[in-house]
Amino acid sequence: MDTITYLKNFVKDRNVASITPTSSFGVKRVCSKIDFERQNVIIEYGPGTGVFTRYLLKNMDDASRLILIERNKNFGSILKKKIHDPRVVIVNDSAENVLDTLRACRESQADYILSGIPFILLNDELKNLILYNTHRALKKGGKFLVYQTCFQTDNHLKVHLDRYFPIVRSKYELRNIPPLRVYEAIK
Ligand SMILES: C[S@@+](CC[C@H](N)C(=O)[O-])C[C@H]1O[C@@H](n2cnc3c(N)ncnc32)[C@H](O)[C@@H]1O
Repeated sequence: MDTITYLKNFVKDRNVASITPTSSFGVKRVCSKIDFERQNVIIEYGPGTGVFTRYLLKNMDDASRLILIERNKNFGSILKKKIHDPRVVIVNDSAENVLDTLRACRESQADYILSGIPFILLNDELKNLILYNTHRALKKGGKFLVYQTCFQTDNHLKVHLDRYFPIVRSKYELRNIPPLRVYEAIK
């Protein structure tokens, strides 16, 4: 069902950048970097139909918050219809405006920001604006957790992450179509 939704939106919006949601292996690998024992403010860029969102909500405690920032209006409406949880805020906007979103949610900074937005399609100006504002939006020690297709070279994202974050690690998750390159950038 989700795959049909992705296909329909993919043909109209190239920023959807995928014809199927991330696999459960991909979701678990990215989320393994989150300490769910703590009270967290988590932001998700590009939740799509909510495959990460569902996993996060299952594992977050009651006092944690999840802020979803989705640029595609159809996905935004699907999320608003499907998710009714007091810990969640759904915002139809683009990731570079994360600081405005945090202010509107009355939060100063986040513990984790997850992102599946296709950095490979962004020009350098927008890429750097998103990374600059993401870095500012994170607490010290906070993590930017990014999953991208494995076709990316270091020039697409890694070198840019290295400019903003003192620690950047990357690994591959092969159990996804296509395989993923997963980054953990720590402020
Ligand atoms: C590759 S899909 C990932 C969807 C979902 N998180 C998953 O793992 O299956 C990328 C998502 O990012 C969204 N997106 C693309 N550019 C964005 C931006 N600048 N800000 C927020 N969302 C964006 C797309 O609409 C799409 O939902």
